[in-house]
This record gives sequence, structure tokens and C-alpha cells, in this order.
Amino acid sequence: GGEMKPWNGDVHTVLSPICIQTTNGLERKVIGSYPLCGQEEAMAALDAAVLAYNDGRGEWPTMTVSERIACMEKFTGKMIEKKSEIVKLIMWEIGKSYTDSIKEFDRTVEYINTTIDALKDLDRNSSRFEIEQGIIGQIRRSPLGVVLCMGPFNYPLNETFTTLIPALIMGNTMLFKPPKHGTLLHYPLLEAFASCFPKGVVNTIYGRGNVIIGPLMESGKINVLTLIGSSKVANQLKKMHPKVNRLRAILGLDAKNAAIISDKADLDLAVQETVLGSLSFNGQRCTALKIIFVHSKIADVFLQKLSAAIGQLKVGMPWEKGVFLTPLPEPQKPAYLKECIDDALANGAKVINEHGGASYESFVYPAVLYPVNKEMKLYREEQFGPLIPVLPFDDIETPIEYLIESDHGQQVSIFSNDADELASLIDPLVNQVSRVNINCQCQRGPDVYPFTGRKDSAEGTLSVPDALRAFSIRSMVATKQ
Ligand code: G3H
Repeated sequence: GGEMKPWNGDVHTVLSPICIQTTNGLERKVIGSYPLCGQEEAMAALDAAVLAYNDGRGEWPTMTVSERIACMEKFTGKMIEKKSEIVKLIMWEIGKSYTDSIKEFDRTVEYINTTIDALKDLDRNSSRFEIEQGIIGQIRRSPLGVVLCMGPFNYPLNETFTTLIPALIMGNTMLFKPPKHGTLLHYPLLEAFASCFPKGVVNTIYGRGNVIIGPLMESGKINVLTLIGSSKVANQLKKMHPKVNRLRAILGLDAKNAAIISDKADLDLAVQETVLGSLSFNGQRCTALKIIFVHSKIADVFLQKLSAAIGQLKVGMPWEKGVFLTPLPEPQKPAYLKECIDDALANGAKVINEHGGASYESFVYPAVLYPVNKEMKLYREEQFGPLIPVLPFDDIETPIEYLIESDHGQQVSIFSNDADELASLIDPLVNQVSRVNINCQCQRGPDVYPFTGRKDSAEGTLSVPDALRAFSIRSMVATKQ
């Protein structure tokens, strides 16, 4: 509700993925703490958001677009003043390289500015028109109500803001729960939210999701759920809402993006893009390449080149110059990745590259596993880490069938220099995923283009203009002249 309150309850101690020497040996560094709010505080935040919305009659939802833009511009100015503090916290909380943490911050500011520009253009050409002779229609765009927003740990600022900012600027009021790994970096923005927007419009809640989110959903007062995370969690949360048909969900969910490398591909390019696509931020991206199909005629050369390229990657602390692989924030991740590797080895695959899968402190060295088959966890599970499962194929129908049978449908990359082959693949692939990348890795953005997924990979679309539409409703007032 825009007020700071002292906290005497339990706190969660935040451990960085970066380890330091302590009297007990090497340990994750303690970098701060946050309050573990309970149901009472969560419900108080909900009440504040409901009151600020006031059934669409609150100060924020009734402001003009230019007034809301002015608030957002003031907020952006304050956010930029906090840049160095936020960037350092991104780096320490999730182990993202300093360079990429800066990119994440800058990309977020750019995202806000693009959103403001898109809002100025939204509905510009269709606001007033003659429905039929003597009746004038006027299009109104209105907010939806109270939005519960949860972002992911891998882009704790940027991707959280790709839902929070459009939802907010459309006049909704917000309950915002920062990601578990990536909470402290939102502290510097608390004052800016409180001073740039009316009281109760942005309510940041801290605590364990399994304690505070359930009661919020069960209250039936959440109008929109927006989450970048797992489809399992999204489904659980939706089911808690007593009137689920009235809940709008804008979701970015699991993905298992495949690369298909034809025998007619430029192999050096395919290797370069596979490394970037599979291993950027240690493979912890929903858009990462998570399974590679390579034509059996070129598989050996591809694997040799891939292993050599991985051998060149610098592993180190996020602030080191040129570093590519950094510590993993989720403490349980190294054990999970080892389980995936062991399972692949037990089912007939080999680790192809030197040191593949080796782990120390919170680092895991990338592993290329070959040949992967249907029996292995890595065939379908989203590893969200630095493992590259590779499968040989002779018939192009093999990867296409894989995609058809998949529950995921975000993106695919195809590598080939044969124009006819590419042309014949686009239609079957575009029917399975929401973005086909030709001779390049999978990725999100630029932000004005659609970012979504088929099947269980998404609900709604998150390009800038699409998000503005998703967090609002278009209605019409018809007046007889
Ligand atoms: O983790 C999911 C993000 O949308 C990935 O974004 O492709 O820009 O890294 P990116």
C-alpha cells in the first residue's frame, strides 16, 4: 500500500551462488535477507491493490494515458539512478556475468520506453467511427483489475518487467512477487514505485510462494495471473481461483527448443549458434536450445567442432572479463544435472567433451551427451542448465515427429544452406512452434515482435503491443446522433 513497515518476523537469508572461503570451508556468500511475509501481509497487500483499483474508479485506472505515461517516465528516471546498485545485485543474486547484468538492465529501460511509445499508438486509428448511419461508436480500452505478477529467476528484472510494466501502464493495480533467486535486486525500486504511482498501485510482496500465493488466488480477487515459470505451477495456481473462467492468464512457460542440423548446413555457423543457443547464461533460458538433432552424415564432425568450441569457453566469476559460464543460483541444480547425465550414460550415451559435467562449488561444466534416445530424461525434460543432448537422424521426419509429439511449442532452429530444403521445412515447423529460426539460435525479441508459444509453452503473447492488449479490454460506447 505504498508504506514501509518494520518487520519483526522470520526472514529468508539470501545466499549468492558465488562461494567464498569461510571458517567452514567454501560456502555460498550471504548477501542479504528479505522478510518472509505470511498470509496476513499478503492479504493486506491484496486489499491495498483492490482499494487502489476500486472497481475501475480508483485514481490510477481513471488517469488519462498521458498522466500514466508521465508517472512511468518518472519511475524510469529513478530506476536509471539506481542502475549500478541493481546491476550488482543481479550479478550477486543469480550469478549472471556483469556484462549480461548490464545488458539486462539496459534492455529493461529500453523495454519501458518502447512500451510507452506503443501505448501512444495503440488504437490511434480506431477510436471513433460511424457504426452505421446515425450511430457513432467510440472504442474504449480499460484495465482488467488486480494483476498478480511473478517473474523468473533467470531474468529477474527484465522478464518480470515484460509483464509488470504493460499491466501497470494499462491502469491495472499490481501485486508483485519477486522471484526467489532475484528478490534483493528489487529493493532499490521500492521507493520509486511508492513515489511515482498512487498509493496501493504497486504492492511488492515477499515470502514463500507456497505460503502467500495460495490465499491470494483463493480470494477470487485476482483478475489476471501473469507468470513466467513452469506450466505445473501455473496450472496449480489457476485451479485455486474460485472463478477460474473469470481469470485471465498471461503465461510464459516451459520449452524444449530443438535445433535441426541438416547435412547441408554450414557447420561452423551451426556450432557457433548451438554454443550460444544452448549455453548462454549456462543454458538457463526458456529460449535455450535444449535438444539438438544432427544429420548422421555430419554428426562426427559436428561433435568434434562442438567439443572444441566448448573447450574455448571461459568459466569463472561473473565479474571476470570474457567469462561465459558462471555459477548456478539454484542450489539443487548441480545434483539434478548429474542425475540427467547419469541417466543418459546408463542408457547408452557418452559425454563427448573433455570435463563435461564436472562440477565444483556452484559451477557445472557443460556436457555434450551423444547419442541421446527416447529412454533418457534429457529427451523430453527441460534441463534448464548447461547440458547439450544430441541425437543423430537420417530422415528429416525424425525431428519433425519429435516436435509433433512434444508438449512444448516455443521455437526451433534449422541449419541448412539448401533453399529448397528450408522452404519445405518451414510450414511443418511453423505448425508446431511459434518461431522458426533459420541458420540462427532461438531467442526472444526484439520486443516489438510476438513472443509466445504453442501447446504448454505459453498463454497469451508478450510482444510490446500484444502485452498492452493482453492486460486490457477493448469495449465500445455506441451513441445515436
Ligand atoms: O528465459 C526466457 C527468456 O525469454 C529468454 O530471453 O532469449 O532474450 O535470452 P532471451
